Amino acid sequence: MPESIYKVFSHLIPPERLHESDEVLDINSVDETEDLFYRPNLVAEPISTEEVSALIAKAYEHDIPVTAAGARTGLSGGALSVKGGLALSLRRMNEIIAIDEVNHQAIVQPGVITEVLQNAAEDKGLFYAVDPASKGTCTIGGNLAENSGGPRAVKYGVTKDWVLNLEVVLANGKVIETGANTLKNSTGYNLTGLIVGSEGTLGIITKATLKLLPLPEFHALILVPFKSADKACSAVSDVFRAGIMPSAMEFMERDAMVLTQKFTENFELDLKEEFEAYLLIEVDAFDQNALMPQCEKMLPVLEKHECGDILFANSSVEQDKLWFLRRRMGEAVKAESIYKEEDTVVPRGCLPKLIKEVKRIGDEFGFRSICYGHAGDGNLHINILKDQMDCEKWNNEIPVAISKLFKSVVRMGGTLSGEHGIGLVQSSYMAIACSEVHLSAMKAVKKALDPKGILNPSKIFPMD
Ligand code: LAC
Ligand code: ZN
Repeated sequence: MPESIYKVFSHLIPPERLHESDEVLDINSVDETEDLFYRPNLVAEPISTEEVSALIAKAYEHDIPVTAAGARTGLSGGALSVKGGLALSLRRMNEIIAIDEVNHQAIVQPGVITEVLQNAAEDKGLFYAVDPASKGTCTIGGNLAENSGGPRAVKYGVTKDWVLNLEVVLANGKVIETGANTLKNSTGYNLTGLIVGSEGTLGIITKATLKLLPLPEFHALILVPFKSADKACSAVSDVFRAGIMPSAMEFMERDAMVLTQKFTENFELDLKEEFEAYLLIEVDAFDQNALMPQCEKMLPVLEKHECGDILFANSSVEQDKLWFLRRRMGEAVKAESIYKEEDTVVPRGCLPKLIKEVKRIGDEFGFRSICYGHAGDGNLHINILKDQMDCEKWNNEIPVAISKLFKSVVRMGGTLSGEHGIGLVQSSYMAIACSEVHLSAMKAVKKALDPKGILNPSKIFPMD
């Protein structure tokens, strides 16, 4: 890599969108992952596919690492320029090109904020179903790169389930479409599926065609306390077995609720000490009358697990308040201490076993954990807090604890990440979830699409 890379790219993009000042480099050195900081050498803000293509072709020619980013809200270090080089900020490519009401599709650039797309679809009576907790700030490009989920994934699936077609700039700067704007496509390999979740390591997404649904306008939301995390987690699979399909089924430990209530300062929920965990359950419908029967069917199941008094959010204002609390949980827990966050996922029936195992490993290694997550998906966000632990123990023993946890998760039929991606922070654990043969198949794909290894190096798995 040449010492100053500014000159390599300066004829491709106007100077006001090419930065090498300390201030801009610093902003582009972080995401929301732990306290990590990796500085790129240069930041480019392209506004078109042509500009992305020209930048990548030049980076390929000069062997310069390129790390793409949207809003930098990622939680696995996917957007960090670990090897320096060019940070490709896609935030200015934020146009909703079309909302196609005839075909129920949206065509968007990667820098569109997820909630902006949701609102634009809603204005036309349509629904973009993917809703990560950070929907107000995260971008579609980031969601595609990490295959993001969110509370409604339990009913509607994750980002991959809503992608019909992608425009992608390959490592050599050439541009392809991975599919077609059709609901069905059996034409060759599913490159769309390959690119979604590939964390910017195989190509740069410059346009996406996404599926929309008719908008389910009506929602009921309940907050259910339980005496123990075990009882809350056991209730989860029973709700589905009773023939109910919630549009969200979130698990929250009491500690997570208390911290978030303190952090957001605008709640007066009475979080009694006798209740160790809560489920936040939403059902949705096209017709108001379809809501109550679903709730009524759920009540005996929840009572069987000895829940406390259920809070019904009676108005959309009350519902929004509870969702606000849930969506700020990550931030609140992280403000408490230095932390490591795991995004483990198990078949949902194994959730009680998973939460027990987290606490057992916490006792063994002497750490406090605060857990919350998408219980309906068996996806638990496990925040391991450093608190007063000395740095040597934090750096040397906690990774051992995490390995133990991941091995247990894999034994339960689960895996390392449900929706945050592997990125940088989970990459050293990949061999726990994937066999050598599996890893070499993935490496062969990487080698074929990015032979010089310039796209987001050091992510997902180390290349040898
Ligand atoms: C959430 C993020 C952390 O569910 O995925 O809040
Ligand atoms: Zn989540």
